[in-house]
Amino acid sequence: MTGASSGIGAAVARRLSAEGWRLVLNGRDAARLGGVAEQTGAFCFPADLTGRGAEQRLTRFTLEQFGRVDLLVAGAGIGWAGDFITMPADALEEVIGTDLLATLRLVRQVVPHMVEAGCGRVVLIGSLAGVVGVRGEAVYSAAKAALSAFAESLRYELRGTGVELSHVVPGVVDTPFFERRGTPYRRSRPRPVPPERVAEAVWSAVSRGRNEIYVPGWLRLPARVRGAAPGLFRRLATAFG
Ligand SMILES: NC(=O)c1ccc[n+]([C@@H]2O[C@H](COP(=O)([O-])OP(=O)(O)OC[C@H]3O[C@@H](n4cnc5c(N)ncnc54)[C@H](OP(=O)(O)O)[C@@H]3O)[C@@H](O)[C@H]2O)c1
Repeated sequence: MTGASSGIGAAVARRLSAEGWRLVLNGRDAARLGGVAEQTGAFCFPADLTGRGAEQRLTRFTLEQFGRVDLLVAGAGIGWAGDFITMPADALEEVIGTDLLATLRLVRQVVPHMVEAGCGRVVLIGSLAGVVGVRGEAVYSAAKAALSAFAESLRYELRGTGVELSHVVPGVVDTPFFERRGTPYRRSRPRPVPPERVAEAVWSAVSRGRNEIYVPGWLRLPARVRGAAPGLFRRLATAFG
């Protein structure tokens, strides 16, 4: 699983290990990753997933340890907040490179092994930003929206193969994500939830085979309003920020 050295990914690793899963954890910070591995009895594979061939090495390492991959939880991600017209080009590439391209490349590596085995599950950690769009997070929202469309599309393709795909859609989660992007979360709603709530949703996706889970669940409502009445949604979003 990716993003395992911090926040949501670390909570997911702890949850899955408590359920008896044997894991390979990826993140960039080897020391923090090692701390999570100690808590979970997992293998570590520290690597920057935007680096050339990292997804191949991670997949190979996992197959060497276990001989198969039953589950991929793709949680690595970064944010960037500010006006799009002031966004530095390298920040744009880093967000798309990490949140979208690196995830797609890893899924591309792992899924053929699952299809060959006739079973498996991929869990993509998306974001509400990718469903409704958020002011000041245009590129992050675009990357997560692309992940959402990717999940829908790939699910059709995987029908009948035994491989399932879940899209977990958190709203705001209390993790170092905001501090690291350099802009704190300032809105009063939605209120941040602990990362363990997202870990519970991932476990629900795995254990009950759920395709799409919003965290918290009520956030499905703004997504529905956005789909059914986009004009109304835009007026509300503009008025309430
Ligand atoms: N926090 C929220 O409110 C929120 C809401 C919706 C969705 N999400 C999504 O949830 C996921 C996890 O975020 P979080 O809140 O847990 O943030 P976080 O605490 O900052 O964790 C981000 C994780 O991604 C890893 N990562 C980042 N860039 C990477 C790269 N190039 N290669 C390999 N690993 C990389 C980090 O590894 P290192 O720390 O080792 O660098 C870390 O493990 C992200 O996809 C994020 O978009 C978060």
